Amino acid sequence: MYSEFIIETPLDMHLHLRDEDMLKLVAPLTSKNFSAALIMPNLNPPITTKKDLLNYKERIKKASKNENFEPLMTIFFQVDYSYEFLKEIKDEIIAVKLYPFGVTTNSETGVASMDVEILRPTLQSMEKLGIPLCVHGETKGFIMDREKEFLPIYESLAINFPKLKIMMEHISSKESIDLLKKYDNLYATITIHHLLLTLDDVLGGMLNPHNFCKPIVKRPDDRDALLQLVLNAHPKVMFGSDSAPHQKENKECHHGSAGVFSAPIALQALTQLFEKYNKLDNLNKFLSLNAQKIYNIKAKKKLIKMIKKDFTIPKSYKYNNEEVIPLFSNETLSWSIES
Ligand code: DOR
Ligand code: ZN
Repeated sequence: MYSEFIIETPLDMHLHLRDEDMLKLVAPLTSKNFSAALIMPNLNPPITTKKDLLNYKERIKKASKNENFEPLMTIFFQVDYSYEFLKEIKDEIIAVKLYPFGVTTNSETGVASMDVEILRPTLQSMEKLGIPLCVHGETKGFIMDREKEFLPIYESLAINFPKLKIMMEHISSKESIDLLKKYDNLYATITIHHLLLTLDDVLGGMLNPHNFCKPIVKRPDDRDALLQLVLNAHPKVMFGSDSAPHQKENKECHHGSAGVFSAPIALQALTQLFEKYNKLDNLNKFLSLNAQKIYNIKAKKKLIKMIKKDFTIPKSYKYNNEEVIPLFSNETLSWSIES
């Protein structure tokens, strides 16, 4: 029985921080407790130039209010990035993020075709330069099958670009796990919501728009397969919250946005989960060591002391006119972060 547990250098390898007041609201909630986070570029318009990237990084640093936090930047994949451009920006980014057109929030400028030949020049340049590729792997098919339908595309990318590190983002189905294990250059991030929720938590009883995200949470056997992978800290998986804040009004409405906001509860929920299955010894691998190996980075040491004490999750987080409802709003977890 643990009554406290030290998390060493937690990393969130998939995070949406947005901009302006929303950035000011959410950035401190991650920067306080994480050593670093990989920042998504799907702003509107997306981050596609060096100037926009560096300016965004500065805004993040300012909003973070914590010297001990490193934003790991990404740019939004474009088919016309030249080798020279990628070479110039290489040291400023940790990866390039690819969104197929129209599959999720702010992906309207995503790639129109996933044909390998169309993507080849950019991916070849990235492969040569050693820049990893993060992918939102979904088609526009039936909602429950979108990730499964995308797997042949992951497979052809893995085969065609064997030296390119490909991150299968927020995997949500058991079929993805089989593919992940099949190719050496495939890796994956996994969120908390895909480990704890199923479709029943979105629409099995009363509709809960705060659990609605892309990819949609799936069946109990998908969740359980992901859980096994994570609890055993499989070396090809790492934590990426995909914490994706949206204004309360844009979630609780007609045409609600996809995204689960989990940043402020991530460490508490993961500690509770790993403790429940007697796997706390593996938590630091999932939260830090695996990602450092996969991305070949050395993160700045940051020790977070978890204590076995109830933490009641706030109903919402507010700043000026922004209000965001977190995952498990107003529920109580059995672990807190020592303040
Ligand atoms: O649910 C999601 N929300 N999935 C994504 O891939 C994007 C994200 C967002 O930006 O809101
Ligand atoms: Zn995301």
